[in-house]
Amino acid sequence: TYVVTDNCIACKYTDCVEVCPVDCFYEGENMLVIHPDECIDCGVCEPECPADAIRPDTEPNMEVWVEFNRKYSESWPVLATRRDPLPEAEERDGETGKLEKYFS
Ligand code: SF4
Ligand code: F3S
Repeated sequence: TYVVTDNCIACKYTDCVEVCPVDCFYEGENMLVIHPDECIDCGVCEPECPADAIRPDTEPNMEVWVEFNRKYSESWPVLATRRDPLPEAEERDGETGKLEKYFS
């Protein structure tokens, strides 16, 4: 599976949802997640994210993000159409400690 990681937080560009063939992105207040059981591992979303927030779970230390994506995809609504990024997207891109600072 692919997963959304912390640099999506406070950016939420949503370019990713446009290309997903199975609509497995789910929307929270300031980030998206991927449902790990619905993702077909096609990889097309990864290069589309301007914040480089989408990673394959084959990278090191991704277990925590797989569980995070699973947890929230089960309660958030699906998002299949692109929308405007959050207002501070450019400013927040690349900032560290986003999970602690902004996630809600
Ligand atoms: Fe969707 Fe493919 Fe990205 Fe999985 S890897 S979330 S199926 S676009
Ligand atoms: Fe987030 Fe990147 Fe999609 S910032 S909403 S994972 S395009």
